[in-house]
Amino acid sequence: MQALMLLLWAGALLGPGSCQDNAGSLEDSPAPDTTGVPVEEEDPFFKVPVNKLAAAISNFGYDLYRVRSSLSPTANVLLSPLSVATALSALSLGAEQRTESTIHRALYYDLISNPDIHGTYKELLAAVTAPQKNFKSASRIIFERKLRIKSSFVAPLEKSYGTRPRILTGNSRLDLQEVNNWVQAQMKGKIARSTREIPSEISILLLGVAYFKGQWVTKFDPRKTSLEDFHLDEERTVRVPMMSDPKAILRYGLDSDLSCKIAQLPLTGSMSIIFFLPLKVTQNLTMIEESLTSEFIHDIDRELKTIQAVLTIPKLKLSYEGEVTKSLQEIKLQSLFDSPDFTKITGKPIKLTQVEHRGGFEWNEDGASTAPSTGLQPARLTFPLDYHLNQPFIFVLRDTDTGALLFIGKILDPRGI
Ligand SMILES: *[C@@H]1O[C@H](CO)[C@@H](O)[C@H](O)[C@H]1NC(C)=O
Repeated sequence: MQALMLLLWAGALLGPGSCQDNAGSLEDSPAPDTTGVPVEEEDPFFKVPVNKLAAAISNFGYDLYRVRSSLSPTANVLLSPLSVATALSALSLGAEQRTESTIHRALYYDLISNPDIHGTYKELLAAVTAPQKNFKSASRIIFERKLRIKSSFVAPLEKSYGTRPRILTGNSRLDLQEVNNWVQAQMKGKIARSTREIPSEISILLLGVAYFKGQWVTKFDPRKTSLEDFHLDEERTVRVPMMSDPKAILRYGLDSDLSCKIAQLPLTGSMSIIFFLPLKVTQNLTMIEESLTSEFIHDIDRELKTIQAVLTIPKLKLSYEGEVTKSLQEIKLQSLFDSPDFTKITGKPIKLTQVEHRGGFEWNEDGASTAPSTGLQPARLTFPLDYHLNQPFIFVLRDTDTGALLFIGKILDPRGI
């Protein structure tokens, strides 16, 4: 069990029924057994189909993040796994049994008893990309040139995922331009055009793009933003623009098992960011990363306590453009790259060759109001608490309504290099 403790309140805050003994598992609550021993009930939150689906694809997202992070131990990671999950889920519409179940296992669909996953997915996408969320996400399946696609694949793809497959022309300049135009239109120009050529040996290319610009519930005073030290590691320090609020209201907990301080700041549109800040300066965030699951984050969300703190947080503007092909190959999906069965899409043997991700993410002082929201009453503290994001940390952007993971970042250097 994760002992998530608030500094001043001794004792575990995670109540019964929130054990983390089955990381990543989304199993339904088992039926009461014959011994009459009470069994753990599933949290009602996960009984809502859209929340359950969000938990499943978010667990895929944490898996993807872990692999990405381990592949670049000394660099920032910025990832919106939702856009990749969406492309995969859409692709599974064209997969025959064996291949379909490979994708479904990676997305944790095998733990969901929902006969209409794709219909629920449509609902989830509509929920998390509603205008007030400030979050944009789009996914696309791109096929090799001259491929003939069955209309029985295109229709359900459009219906549930609102996307049409694209077939390459074979002219790499035109194809890149078309993809760039599509990204521009989907992201309303917030993501820069790419110069990366689309390789000629593509069979199936998945593309997931996402953009988010945070609006805090309580804005930061720009006059309090100044250049401050950020500790890259135990020895090296850089100066970065750091926002601060001497009387911030945030939700907080100390996790003694993970040796980190967890804080949550609300954003407008029922969104929030959860920060994981190690007690000591370190670039090794493995322990925290290993613990990340939808269920753990949900428990944190319930158990953090509202406090007042002296808060400093770097301004952030990050972007990512590149492949997540290798990462996907490492999370149970290798067979999609070898000899998958996509005969529901076309008669020709095709396989996944590349998965591209583009993401943009930023926050600055902007927010909805200057006063803390009235719903938050800080617990009485005998001394002020400090929360300084001035060393490597992890953040999780989450939709509070559905619990969906929308962005995850490992910030080793807020300058984005
Ligand atoms: C990071 O920390 C974990 C345990 O917390 C340890 O097993 C691992 O070897 C460390 N990795 C590096 C690169 O130091």
